[in-house]
Amino acid sequence: MKLNKALLLLLAFSLSAHAQKAKTSKKIKPRNEFVTELMGKMTIDEKIAQLVQYTADGTITGPKSGDNFVAEIKKGNVGSILNATNVKYTREIQELNLKNSRLKIPLLFGYDVIHGYKTIFPITLGETASWDLEAAKLSSQVAAAEAAASGVHWTFAPMVDISRDPRWGRVSEGAGEDTYLGSKMAFARVKGFQGDNLYDINTILACTKHFAAYGAAEAGRDYNTVDMSERVLRETYLPPFKATVDAGVATFMTSFNEIAGVPSTGNKFLVNGILKGEWDFKGFVVTDYTGINEMVPHGYAKDDAHAGELALTAGVDMDMVGGVFLKHTKKSLAEGKVTEEQINDACRRILEAKYDLGLFEDPYRYNDEKREASTIYRKEHLDAALKVANKSMVLLKNNNSVLPLRKEQKVAFVGPLVSDEANIIGSWAAVGDRTGYAVSVEEGVKKLITDKSKVSFAKGVEIKDTKKDLMKAALDNARNADVIVAVMGEFENQTGEAASQTDINLPGIQKEFLAELKKLGKPVVLVLLNGRPLTLNWENENMDAILEAWFPGTMGGDAIAQTLYGVNNPGGKLPMTFPRSVGQVPIYYNHKNTGRPYLGAKDAEQKYKSRYTDSDNSPLFAFGYGLSYTKFDYSNLKISSKTLNANGTVKVSVDVANTGNYDGEEVVQLYIKDVVGSVTRPVRELKGFNKILLKKGEKKTVTFDITATDLKFYTLDMKFAAEPGDFEVFVGGSSNAELTEKFVLVN
Ligand code: GLC
Repeated sequence: MKLNKALLLLLAFSLSAHAQKAKTSKKIKPRNEFVTELMGKMTIDEKIAQLVQYTADGTITGPKSGDNFVAEIKKGNVGSILNATNVKYTREIQELNLKNSRLKIPLLFGYDVIHGYKTIFPITLGETASWDLEAAKLSSQVAAAEAAASGVHWTFAPMVDISRDPRWGRVSEGAGEDTYLGSKMAFARVKGFQGDNLYDINTILACTKHFAAYGAAEAGRDYNTVDMSERVLRETYLPPFKATVDAGVATFMTSFNEIAGVPSTGNKFLVNGILKGEWDFKGFVVTDYTGINEMVPHGYAKDDAHAGELALTAGVDMDMVGGVFLKHTKKSLAEGKVTEEQINDACRRILEAKYDLGLFEDPYRYNDEKREASTIYRKEHLDAALKVANKSMVLLKNNNSVLPLRKEQKVAFVGPLVSDEANIIGSWAAVGDRTGYAVSVEEGVKKLITDKSKVSFAKGVEIKDTKKDLMKAALDNARNADVIVAVMGEFENQTGEAASQTDINLPGIQKEFLAELKKLGKPVVLVLLNGRPLTLNWENENMDAILEAWFPGTMGGDAIAQTLYGVNNPGGKLPMTFPRSVGQVPIYYNHKNTGRPYLGAKDAEQKYKSRYTDSDNSPLFAFGYGLSYTKFDYSNLKISSKTLNANGTVKVSVDVANTGNYDGEEVVQLYIKDVVGSVTRPVRELKGFNKILLKKGEKKTVTFDITATDLKFYTLDMKFAAEPGDFEVFVGGSSNAELTEKFVLVN
């Protein structure tokens, strides 16, 4: 489905118009020549300074290293600053730096621009629910344009950590549980942030994080231990990282966690071995916040100096806030524990990134206050944020077509988030405004429904309320409505970093409030603002409709209102499984079959199966699931051949008809099962998807090409290869797709 072409063209034009104005003329030597010459003049102290990043005092995201960044800049000890934003502040810091830099080496400014800079888009998990790669690229493009106009050179995004555990708060920042979808999204986001030329004034360095497998923390507890086979690491967790290397990502960030006993920040196999070796990554690697220092509590380094040696030797190039490279690397060099070549390589990679951005030509080319003012909140940006938010909406339930609402209905809007303008932009919302700029659900509804007698608004409860005093007013409000809409969910800071939870139910007494609302005997629609899959069994039993809105961003209230009233027909699909119970976690669709698979109801009497005594194995809502206001019928699944040759292609086609009453988007999904392998294989894996728009009554044939490359995995002897044998294909609108065909891969 093509995003509104006019919007894309308009945005592209406006971005390039800026680029033309900003292109400076001063020509300097080609990069390699320039950097080699510069490094030839640099002392070892000046080289080490390039490996040092400190945080400005804007926001800190972890234990502060205690060093004062201004004092260190004055000593010429810093190569990069994070958490400094806006043109004026970054210019001020850059001026201080250049005044104290003998060779006038500009600072690199990094910041967490995860799902928007000022114009905030849906949280990344929500944006992934759009399954729309153009939408993902567009949101990163807009984020880059606003960040670049504000003096930021580098974003610590995309976060590409696969996770199968909603207890982990950082699922909100990623692309969910699936490697294929996550890889496609990762590629699109890097292209959005970096464009095709980093010299373009509207682009910034991207940073793939957190390398690697951070989302597999045991028990979903942030920063916790990760232990897995190399096969699972390479097959499930690494492909999204590799996709960003293929997209030309400029930087990487190592993760806090260990993998099989080795912290990523000091993991030579991971950084120098896979990233810079096998994948030939030419950019630079920054640690996560004080990640080097943390190798001491990990029990992997005896002190900071040792940790610094391990990091530099592993292939890390820049120390985020830890102060370790600054304080210890020169001595480690003198002691022969690190080499000048390692320091030179790290320094070169960082200087090359600064060169690519044009900072040596003009260190202030991102510091134009007029450009900043005219770029932030541009109408095209807000329109893009609304479009992407609409595409992220997932309709989980809609009994008796209670949705879309009709304008003539009397609707009582209730719930702790009904008028919220702060949480709606989610966590990691950069410099997004939480004081009233974002569109709340109430505001969005009032824009659509101008007859004030038709809608009412009352909170009823707070998110983590224990008192019930607000409830009465809200219930009175709802008593004479035709429909009740409850806008509920989490605080934005219940997901994101250091926000793991053992309980993933709706917080507080929101469920009790829903029960009171249900007693009024009216249809109740639950709208969810949340950053992780929640356990919603009671809600699914008792609500008439459920709309998953995630944290939809600056324009979130408009998107929710437009979806509730049918201006937007929701077409999103879940990027992550919603469990029945947190006791099922980790739960994900592409699991193994085991030797005693439990096949649901038909096995109900079978005790000795891989099952629970108190719950079905199935999730509440499956990966890839999402309804629409219209109806899509799949038929006529065809396969071009029952055999696939090693270098051939098999075409799979299916007819999809819109048999309902609304135009709508559908994500047609292709799953493949490798029936027998030299190691066991998942029950099915996503291998393709195609988002299509079908007008009501329209039918389209969707085709997928399958080649042997799609069937590759890490075999028993760890070769990445496809093995001849039987395969099954499933096509449909979720990971429970039933239409199926078979083929055989032959040598
Ligand atoms: C944080 C996060 C990382 C972020 C960095 C800088 O601790 O783990 O995602 O980019 O520090 O804020």
